Amino acid sequence: MADTTDTKSSNQMWGGRFASGPDAIMEEINASIGFDKKLFAQDIRGSIAHATMLAHQGIISADDKDKIVHGLNTILSEIESGNFEFSRRLEDIHMNIEARLATLIGPAAGRLHTARSRNDQVALDFRLWVKEELEKTEKMLTGLIAAFLDRAEEHAESVMPGFTHLQTAQPVTFGHHCMAYVEMFGRDRSRVRHAIEHLDESPIGAAALAGTGYPIDRHMTAKALGFREPTRNSIDTVSDRDFAIEFLSIAAIAGMHLSRLAEEIVIWSTPQFGFVRLSDAFSTGSSIMPQKKNPDAAELVRAKTGRINGSLVALLTIMKGLPLAYSKDMQEDKEQVFDAAESLELAIAAMTGMVRDLTVNTARMKAAAGSGFSTATDLADWLVREAGLPFRDAHHVTGRAVALAESKGCDLAELPLSDLQAIHPDITDKVYDVLTVEASVASRKSFGGTAPSEVRRQIAFWRARN
Ligand code: ARG
Repeated sequence: MADTTDTKSSNQMWGGRFASGPDAIMEEINASIGFDKKLFAQDIRGSIAHATMLAHQGIISADDKDKIVHGLNTILSEIESGNFEFSRRLEDIHMNIEARLATLIGPAAGRLHTARSRNDQVALDFRLWVKEELEKTEKMLTGLIAAFLDRAEEHAESVMPGFTHLQTAQPVTFGHHCMAYVEMFGRDRSRVRHAIEHLDESPIGAAALAGTGYPIDRHMTAKALGFREPTRNSIDTVSDRDFAIEFLSIAAIAGMHLSRLAEEIVIWSTPQFGFVRLSDAFSTGSSIMPQKKNPDAAELVRAKTGRINGSLVALLTIMKGLPLAYSKDMQEDKEQVFDAAESLELAIAAMTGMVRDLTVNTARMKAAAGSGFSTATDLADWLVREAGLPFRDAHHVTGRAVALAESKGCDLAELPLSDLQAIHPDITDKVYDVLTVEASVASRKSFGGTAPSEVRRQIAFWRARN
Protein backbone atom coordinates (compact mmCIF):
# COMPACT_ATOMS: atom_id res chain seq x y z
CA MET A 1 0.00 0.00 0.00
CA ALA A 2 2.66 2.52 -1.01
CA ASP A 3 1.35 6.02 -0.59
CA THR A 4 2.89 8.45 -3.04
CA THR A 5 1.83 11.45 -1.01
CA ASP A 6 4.24 10.40 1.79
CA THR A 7 7.27 12.13 0.27
CA LYS A 8 5.33 15.23 -0.48
CA SER A 9 4.02 15.60 3.06
CA SER A 10 7.40 15.01 4.71
CA ASN A 11 8.85 17.53 2.30
CA GLN A 12 6.17 19.94 3.41
CA MET A 13 7.13 19.31 7.02
CA TRP A 14 10.83 20.04 6.77
CA GLY A 15 10.48 22.40 3.87
CA GLY A 16 8.18 24.74 5.76
CA ARG A 17 10.70 27.31 6.76
CA PHE A 18 12.13 27.62 3.25
CA ALA A 19 10.40 29.75 0.71
CA SER A 20 11.34 27.68 -2.32
CA GLY A 21 11.94 24.04 -1.37
CA PRO A 22 15.07 21.87 -1.58
CA ASP A 23 17.12 24.17 -3.85
CA ALA A 24 17.06 26.89 -1.23
CA ILE A 25 18.13 24.42 1.42
CA MET A 26 21.03 23.26 -0.72
CA GLU A 27 22.06 26.85 -1.24
CA GLU A 28 21.88 27.61 2.45
CA ILE A 29 23.89 24.60 3.60
CA ASN A 30 26.40 24.88 0.78
CA ALA A 31 27.21 28.57 0.76
CA SER A 32 30.16 29.85 2.73
CA ILE A 33 30.21 33.41 1.48
CA GLY A 34 28.62 34.61 4.73
CA PHE A 35 31.90 33.93 6.51
CA ASP A 36 34.62 33.29 3.92
CA LYS A 37 34.28 36.80 2.49
CA LYS A 38 36.81 37.59 5.19
CA LEU A 39 39.37 35.95 2.90
CA PHE A 40 38.90 38.39 0.01
CA ALA A 41 42.32 40.06 0.27
CA GLN A 42 44.14 36.72 0.50
CA ASP A 43 42.10 35.35 -2.41
CA ILE A 44 43.02 38.29 -4.62
CA ARG A 45 46.70 38.18 -3.63
CA GLY A 46 46.77 34.47 -4.42
CA SER A 47 45.09 34.94 -7.79
CA ILE A 48 47.46 37.75 -8.80
CA ALA A 49 50.47 35.56 -7.95
CA HIS A 50 48.94 32.61 -9.82
CA ALA A 51 48.10 34.64 -12.96
CA THR A 52 51.56 36.23 -12.97
CA MET A 53 53.17 32.79 -12.80
CA LEU A 54 50.87 31.44 -15.56
CA ALA A 55 51.98 34.26 -17.87
CA HIS A 56 55.62 33.86 -16.92
CA GLN A 57 55.41 30.19 -17.86
CA GLY A 58 53.66 31.00 -21.15
CA ILE A 59 50.45 29.26 -20.04
CA ILE A 60 48.38 32.42 -20.53
CA SER A 61 49.27 35.53 -22.53
CA ALA A 62 50.79 38.62 -20.95
CA ASP A 63 47.81 40.59 -22.20
CA ASP A 64 45.30 38.33 -20.42
CA LYS A 65 47.44 38.44 -17.29
CA ASP A 66 47.38 42.25 -17.32
CA LYS A 67 43.62 42.29 -17.68
CA ILE A 68 43.24 39.77 -14.86
CA VAL A 69 45.54 41.67 -12.49
CA HIS A 70 43.88 44.98 -13.27
CA GLY A 71 40.43 43.48 -12.79
CA LEU A 72 41.42 41.86 -9.49
CA ASN A 73 42.78 45.15 -8.18
CA THR A 74 39.53 46.86 -9.13
CA ILE A 75 37.62 44.18 -7.21
CA LEU A 76 39.91 44.66 -4.21
CA SER A 77 39.07 48.34 -4.01
CA GLU A 78 35.38 47.64 -4.61
CA ILE A 79 35.30 45.26 -1.65
CA GLU A 80 37.41 47.51 0.56
CA SER A 81 35.15 50.47 -0.10
CA GLY A 82 31.98 48.44 0.49
CA ASN A 83 30.91 48.62 -3.16
CA PHE A 84 30.82 44.91 -3.85
CA GLU A 85 27.69 42.85 -3.89
CA PHE A 86 28.31 39.39 -2.47
CA SER A 87 25.95 36.73 -3.74
CA ARG A 88 25.01 33.56 -1.94
CA ARG A 89 24.15 31.93 -5.26
CA LEU A 90 27.84 32.13 -6.09
CA GLU A 91 28.57 30.07 -2.98
CA ASP A 92 31.92 31.32 -1.78
CA ILE A 93 34.49 34.09 -1.98
CA HIS A 94 36.38 32.38 -4.82
CA MET A 95 33.36 32.21 -7.15
CA ASN A 96 32.12 35.66 -6.15
CA ILE A 97 35.40 37.22 -7.16
CA GLU A 98 35.77 35.17 -10.35
CA ALA A 99 32.22 36.01 -11.47
CA ARG A 100 32.83 39.70 -10.91
CA LEU A 101 36.10 39.43 -12.81
CA ALA A 102 34.23 37.99 -15.80
CA THR A 103 31.83 40.94 -15.74
CA LEU A 104 34.73 43.37 -15.57
CA ILE A 105 37.16 41.92 -18.12
CA GLY A 106 35.21 39.37 -20.14
CA PRO A 107 36.56 36.03 -21.42
CA ALA A 108 40.13 36.54 -20.12
CA ALA A 109 38.69 35.95 -16.64
CA GLY A 110 38.06 32.35 -17.58
CA ARG A 111 41.81 31.74 -17.94
CA LEU A 112 42.62 32.53 -14.30
CA HIS A 113 41.44 29.15 -13.05
CA THR A 114 43.88 27.28 -15.35
CA ALA A 115 46.06 24.81 -13.40
CA ARG A 116 44.34 25.33 -10.09
CA SER A 117 41.21 24.24 -8.23
CA ARG A 118 39.20 25.76 -5.45
CA ASN A 119 40.76 23.06 -3.26
CA ASP A 120 44.28 24.47 -3.43
CA GLN A 121 42.87 27.99 -3.68
CA VAL A 122 41.02 27.78 -0.37
CA ALA A 123 43.98 26.05 1.28
CA LEU A 124 46.14 28.97 0.16
CA ASP A 125 43.75 31.74 1.20
CA PHE A 126 43.16 30.22 4.61
CA ARG A 127 46.86 29.59 5.25
CA LEU A 128 47.68 33.19 4.37
CA TRP A 129 44.97 34.38 6.74
CA VAL A 130 46.11 32.15 9.61
CA LYS A 131 49.72 33.19 9.04
CA GLU A 132 48.81 36.87 9.36
CA GLU A 133 46.75 36.14 12.46
CA LEU A 134 49.66 34.27 14.03
CA GLU A 135 51.94 37.23 13.31
CA LYS A 136 49.42 39.53 14.95
CA THR A 137 49.15 37.19 17.93
CA GLU A 138 52.92 37.18 18.29
CA LYS A 139 52.98 40.98 18.51
CA MET A 140 50.10 41.08 20.97
CA LEU A 141 51.78 38.54 23.23
CA THR A 142 54.94 40.64 23.12
CA GLY A 143 52.86 43.62 24.32
CA LEU A 144 51.37 41.59 27.15
CA ILE A 145 54.81 40.35 28.20
CA ALA A 146 56.09 43.94 28.16
CA ALA A 147 53.25 45.01 30.45
CA PHE A 148 54.15 42.25 32.90
CA LEU A 149 57.86 43.10 32.78
CA ASP A 150 57.07 46.69 33.78
CA ARG A 151 54.91 45.59 36.68
CA ALA A 152 57.50 43.03 37.75
CA GLU A 153 60.23 45.64 37.78
CA GLU A 154 58.10 48.03 39.79
CA HIS A 155 57.24 45.27 42.30
CA ALA A 156 60.43 43.21 42.44
CA GLU A 157 60.47 43.82 46.21
CA SER A 158 56.73 43.92 46.99
CA VAL A 159 55.92 40.97 49.21
CA MET A 160 52.73 38.98 48.78
CA PRO A 161 51.57 35.59 49.98
CA GLY A 162 52.46 32.77 47.62
CA PHE A 163 49.74 30.16 47.49
CA THR A 164 49.38 26.45 47.06
CA HIS A 165 45.83 25.07 47.17
CA LEU A 166 44.90 28.77 47.39
CA GLN A 167 46.15 28.63 51.00
CA THR A 168 49.02 30.86 52.09
CA ALA A 169 52.20 28.85 51.55
CA GLN A 170 55.31 31.05 51.63
CA PRO A 171 55.92 34.74 51.02
CA VAL A 172 56.87 35.61 47.45
CA THR A 173 57.19 38.91 45.62
CA PHE A 174 54.54 40.29 43.33
CA GLY A 175 57.31 40.76 40.77
CA HIS A 176 58.06 37.05 40.92
CA HIS A 177 54.38 36.24 40.43
CA CYS A 178 54.25 38.55 37.39
CA MET A 179 57.30 36.82 35.96
CA ALA A 180 55.51 33.47 36.19
CA TYR A 181 53.04 34.87 33.65
CA VAL A 182 55.90 36.11 31.50
CA GLU A 183 57.13 32.52 31.30
CA MET A 184 53.66 31.28 30.37
CA PHE A 185 53.04 33.87 27.65
CA GLY A 186 56.64 33.46 26.48
CA ARG A 187 55.91 29.78 25.84
CA ASP A 188 52.73 30.74 23.99
CA ARG A 189 54.74 33.08 21.82
CA SER A 190 57.28 30.42 20.96
CA ARG A 191 54.43 28.07 20.03
CA VAL A 192 53.16 30.81 17.71
CA ARG A 193 56.62 31.11 16.12
CA HIS A 194 56.82 27.36 15.57
CA ALA A 195 53.36 27.34 14.02
CA ILE A 196 54.41 30.05 11.57
CA GLU A 197 57.39 27.92 10.61
CA HIS A 198 55.17 24.84 10.13
CA LEU A 199 52.65 26.54 7.89
CA ASP A 200 55.13 28.49 5.83
CA GLU A 201 54.60 26.37 2.70
CA SER A 202 52.55 27.37 -0.30
CA PRO A 203 49.62 25.12 -1.30
CA ILE A 204 48.84 26.74 -4.64
CA GLY A 205 49.50 24.45 -7.60
CA ALA A 206 48.43 21.26 -5.83
CA ALA A 207 45.27 21.79 -7.91
CA ALA A 208 42.32 19.50 -7.11
CA LEU A 209 44.58 16.92 -5.42
CA ALA A 210 46.87 15.40 -8.04
CA GLY A 211 48.88 18.36 -9.28
CA THR A 212 48.59 19.49 -12.90
CA GLY A 213 49.89 18.79 -16.39
CA TYR A 214 50.55 22.50 -17.08
CA PRO A 215 54.17 23.57 -16.74
CA ILE A 216 53.55 25.68 -13.61
CA ASP A 217 56.27 27.00 -11.29
CA ARG A 218 55.20 26.46 -7.71
CA HIS A 219 58.46 27.88 -6.38
CA MET A 220 57.68 31.16 -8.08
CA THR A 221 54.20 31.49 -6.54
CA ALA A 222 55.51 30.38 -3.15
CA LYS A 223 58.12 33.15 -3.25
CA ALA A 224 55.71 35.78 -4.52
CA LEU A 225 53.32 35.02 -1.66
CA GLY A 226 56.02 35.15 1.01
CA PHE A 227 56.17 31.42 1.72
CA ARG A 228 59.47 29.65 2.39
CA GLU A 229 58.74 26.93 -0.18
CA PRO A 230 55.87 25.03 -1.84
CA THR A 231 54.22 22.09 -0.05
CA ARG A 232 55.66 18.74 -1.13
CA ASN A 233 52.63 16.48 -1.61
CA SER A 234 49.56 17.61 -3.50
CA ILE A 235 47.20 15.14 -1.81
CA ASP A 236 48.28 16.21 1.65
CA THR A 237 48.12 19.85 0.61
CA VAL A 238 44.41 19.91 -0.12
CA SER A 239 43.43 17.65 2.78
CA ASP A 240 45.56 19.30 5.47
CA ARG A 241 44.13 21.67 8.04
CA ASP A 242 46.84 21.16 10.65
CA PHE A 243 47.75 24.84 10.43
CA ALA A 244 44.23 25.78 11.53
CA ILE A 245 44.21 23.17 14.28
CA GLU A 246 47.61 24.33 15.48
CA PHE A 247 46.33 27.88 15.62
CA LEU A 248 43.35 26.72 17.68
CA SER A 249 45.55 24.63 19.99
CA ILE A 250 47.81 27.58 20.61
CA ALA A 251 44.78 29.78 21.18
CA ALA A 252 43.36 27.23 23.62
CA ILE A 253 46.58 27.04 25.64
CA ALA A 254 47.06 30.81 25.65
CA GLY A 255 43.38 31.16 26.50
CA MET A 256 43.86 28.83 29.45
CA HIS A 257 46.74 31.02 30.67
CA LEU A 258 44.69 34.18 30.20
CA SER A 259 41.83 32.58 32.07
CA ARG A 260 44.02 31.68 35.05
CA LEU A 261 45.23 35.26 35.13
CA ALA A 262 41.64 36.45 34.89
CA GLU A 263 40.70 34.19 37.78
CA GLU A 264 43.51 35.59 39.93
CA ILE A 265 42.45 39.13 39.13
CA VAL A 266 38.88 38.28 40.10
CA ILE A 267 40.11 36.88 43.42
CA TRP A 268 42.65 39.61 44.12
CA SER A 269 40.18 42.40 43.45
CA THR A 270 37.56 41.15 45.92
CA PRO A 271 37.23 43.38 49.00
CA GLN A 272 38.19 40.29 51.04
CA PHE A 273 41.60 40.05 49.34
CA GLY A 274 42.01 43.67 48.29
CA PHE A 275 45.39 43.02 46.65
CA VAL A 276 44.61 44.98 43.51
CA ARG A 277 42.18 47.62 42.34
CA LEU A 278 41.03 47.51 38.76
CA SER A 279 40.91 50.73 36.82
CA ASP A 280 37.46 52.08 36.02
CA ALA A 281 38.20 51.33 32.38
CA PHE A 282 38.18 47.59 33.04
CA SER A 283 35.40 47.23 35.58
CA THR A 284 31.72 47.96 35.82
CA GLY A 285 29.31 49.00 38.52
CA SER A 286 26.19 47.20 39.62
CA SER A 287 22.78 48.56 38.65
CA ILE A 288 21.45 47.84 42.13
CA MET A 289 24.40 47.74 44.56
CA PRO A 290 26.17 51.11 44.50
CA GLN A 291 29.26 49.89 46.38
CA LYS A 292 30.22 47.37 43.74
CA LYS A 293 33.04 47.38 41.24
CA ASN A 294 32.90 44.22 39.21
CA PRO A 295 35.77 42.65 37.27
CA ASP A 296 33.60 42.01 34.20
CA ALA A 297 36.42 42.15 31.68
CA ALA A 298 38.39 39.51 33.59
CA GLU A 299 35.29 37.34 33.86
CA LEU A 300 34.67 37.61 30.14
CA VAL A 301 38.26 36.67 29.37
CA ARG A 302 37.72 33.60 31.56
CA ALA A 303 34.58 32.78 29.58
CA LYS A 304 36.10 33.37 26.13
CA THR A 305 38.44 30.48 26.89
CA GLY A 306 35.43 28.19 26.82
CA ARG A 307 34.54 29.36 23.33
CA ILE A 308 38.09 28.86 22.08
CA ASN A 309 38.20 25.33 23.50
CA GLY A 310 34.90 24.65 21.76
CA SER A 311 36.36 25.73 18.42
CA LEU A 312 39.38 23.48 18.85
CA VAL A 313 37.23 20.46 19.64
CA ALA A 314 34.87 21.30 16.78
CA LEU A 315 37.61 21.36 14.14
CA LEU A 316 39.35 18.26 15.48
CA THR A 317 36.00 16.50 15.27
CA ILE A 318 35.26 17.82 11.78
CA MET A 319 38.59 16.48 10.52
CA LYS A 320 38.92 13.19 12.36
CA GLY A 321 36.83 11.03 10.05
CA LEU A 322 37.70 12.51 6.67
CA PRO A 323 39.24 10.35 3.99
CA LEU A 324 41.94 12.03 1.87
CA ALA A 325 41.78 14.41 0.08
CA TYR A 326 39.28 17.30 0.14
CA SER A 327 35.74 16.92 1.48
CA LYS A 328 33.22 19.70 1.86
CA ASP A 329 33.23 19.15 5.62
CA MET A 330 36.41 21.18 5.57
CA GLN A 331 34.49 24.33 4.70
CA GLU A 332 33.43 24.38 8.37
CA ASP A 333 37.02 25.09 9.44
CA LYS A 334 36.81 28.83 8.94
CA GLU A 335 34.14 29.95 11.37
CA GLN A 336 35.91 28.11 14.19
CA VAL A 337 39.20 29.84 13.48
CA PHE A 338 37.65 33.27 12.89
CA ASP A 339 35.68 33.11 16.12
CA ALA A 340 38.63 31.86 18.17
CA ALA A 341 40.92 34.51 16.66
CA GLU A 342 38.50 37.27 17.60
CA SER A 343 38.14 35.93 21.15
CA LEU A 344 41.89 35.52 21.60
CA GLU A 345 42.69 39.02 20.33
CA LEU A 346 40.11 40.55 22.62
CA ALA A 347 41.28 38.52 25.59
CA ILE A 348 44.95 39.46 25.12
CA ALA A 349 44.08 43.12 24.58
CA ALA A 350 41.85 43.24 27.67
CA MET A 351 44.44 41.53 29.83
CA THR A 352 47.24 43.78 28.62
CA GLY A 353 45.14 46.80 29.54
CA MET A 354 44.17 45.38 32.91
CA VAL A 355 47.72 44.45 33.87
CA ARG A 356 48.97 47.88 32.82
CA ASP A 357 46.25 49.78 34.68
CA LEU A 358 45.72 47.89 37.91
CA THR A 359 46.73 49.45 41.19
CA VAL A 360 48.60 47.16 43.55
CA ASN A 361 47.89 47.50 47.26
CA THR A 362 51.34 46.58 48.57
CA ALA A 363 50.45 47.17 52.24
CA ARG A 364 47.55 44.79 52.01
CA MET A 365 49.63 42.18 50.23
CA LYS A 366 52.40 42.45 52.77
CA ALA A 367 50.03 42.05 55.70
CA ALA A 368 48.51 38.99 54.06
CA ALA A 369 51.97 37.63 53.29
CA GLY A 370 52.81 37.53 56.99
CA SER A 371 49.62 35.86 58.09
CA GLY A 372 48.98 32.14 58.12
CA PHE A 373 52.45 31.36 59.56
CA SER A 374 53.94 31.83 56.12
CA THR A 375 57.50 31.91 57.47
CA ALA A 376 57.22 28.52 59.17
CA THR A 377 59.51 26.97 56.54
CA ASP A 378 62.07 29.67 57.32
CA LEU A 379 62.03 28.66 61.00
CA ALA A 380 62.54 25.02 60.04
CA ASP A 381 65.37 25.96 57.67
CA TRP A 382 67.00 28.05 60.45
CA LEU A 383 66.91 25.03 62.79
CA VAL A 384 68.60 22.94 60.10
CA ARG A 385 71.22 25.57 59.35
CA GLU A 386 71.94 27.00 62.80
CA ALA A 387 71.06 24.17 65.19
CA GLY A 388 72.09 21.27 62.97
CA LEU A 389 68.72 19.48 63.12
CA PRO A 390 67.72 17.05 60.37
CA PHE A 391 64.99 18.72 58.25
CA ARG A 392 62.30 16.24 59.38
CA ASP A 393 62.98 17.04 63.09
CA ALA A 394 63.08 20.75 62.32
CA HIS A 395 59.73 20.39 60.60
CA HIS A 396 58.31 18.76 63.74
CA VAL A 397 59.70 21.42 66.11
CA THR A 398 58.32 24.16 63.84
CA GLY A 399 54.93 22.46 63.85
CA ARG A 400 54.85 22.76 67.63
CA ALA A 401 55.78 26.44 67.45
CA VAL A 402 52.98 27.04 64.94
CA ALA A 403 50.50 25.23 67.18
CA LEU A 404 51.55 27.34 70.15
CA ALA A 405 51.29 30.60 68.17
CA GLU A 406 47.90 29.53 66.92
CA SER A 407 46.65 28.82 70.45
CA LYS A 408 47.94 32.21 71.60
CA GLY A 409 46.45 33.94 68.59
CA CYS A 410 49.74 35.49 67.52
CA ASP A 411 52.30 35.21 64.72
CA LEU A 412 55.47 33.11 64.93
CA ALA A 413 57.56 36.28 65.20
CA GLU A 414 55.46 37.38 68.19
CA LEU A 415 56.24 34.31 70.31
CA PRO A 416 58.64 35.25 73.15
CA LEU A 417 62.05 33.60 73.04
CA SER A 418 61.28 31.68 76.24
CA ASP A 419 58.34 30.01 74.50
CA LEU A 420 60.50 29.05 71.52
CA GLN A 421 63.30 27.77 73.79
CA ALA A 422 60.81 25.64 75.69
CA ILE A 423 60.10 23.92 72.36
CA HIS A 424 63.78 23.63 71.44
CA PRO A 425 66.64 24.82 73.69
CA ASP A 426 69.00 25.65 70.78
CA ILE A 427 66.80 28.45 69.45
CA THR A 428 68.39 31.90 69.97
CA ASP A 429 67.09 35.40 69.38
CA LYS A 430 68.84 35.35 65.98
CA VAL A 431 65.88 33.33 64.77
CA TYR A 432 63.71 36.47 64.63
CA ASP A 433 65.81 37.71 61.70
CA VAL A 434 64.38 35.02 59.44
CA LEU A 435 60.80 35.27 60.59
CA THR A 436 59.99 38.49 58.70
CA VAL A 437 58.52 38.23 55.22
CA GLU A 438 61.27 40.43 53.76
CA ALA A 439 63.99 38.15 55.14
CA SER A 440 62.08 35.15 53.91
CA VAL A 441 61.91 36.30 50.30
CA ALA A 442 65.45 37.75 50.31
CA SER A 443 66.82 34.36 51.36
CA ARG A 444 65.35 32.50 48.39
CA LYS A 445 68.14 33.26 45.96
CA SER A 446 68.17 29.88 44.24
CA PHE A 447 67.98 30.05 40.43
CA GLY A 448 64.39 30.96 39.56
CA GLY A 449 63.57 31.79 43.18
CA THR A 450 61.62 34.69 44.65
CA ALA A 451 64.47 36.85 46.04
CA PRO A 452 64.29 40.38 44.58
CA SER A 453 67.84 39.96 43.22
CA GLU A 454 66.79 36.79 41.42
CA VAL A 455 63.58 38.35 40.12
CA ARG A 456 65.64 41.22 38.67
CA ARG A 457 67.85 38.69 36.93
CA GLN A 458 64.74 37.03 35.43
CA ILE A 459 63.49 40.42 34.25
CA ALA A 460 66.83 41.19 32.57
CA PHE A 461 66.73 37.80 30.82
CA TRP A 462 63.30 38.56 29.33
CA ARG A 463 63.99 42.21 28.56
CA ALA A 464 66.80 41.00 26.31
CA ARG A 465 64.34 38.73 24.52
CA ASN A 466 61.32 40.96 24.22
N1 ARG B 1 34.14 27.08 -0.11
C1 ARG B 1 34.93 25.92 -0.18
C2 ARG B 1 35.62 25.69 1.18
O1 ARG B 1 35.66 26.57 1.95
C3 ARG B 1 35.96 26.06 -1.25
C4 ARG B 1 36.47 24.76 -1.80
C5 ARG B 1 35.42 24.12 -2.61
N2 ARG B 1 35.91 22.94 -3.21
C6 ARG B 1 35.12 21.98 -3.73
N3 ARG B 1 35.67 20.95 -4.23
N4 ARG B 1 33.81 22.09 -3.67
O2 ARG B 1 36.11 24.63 1.47
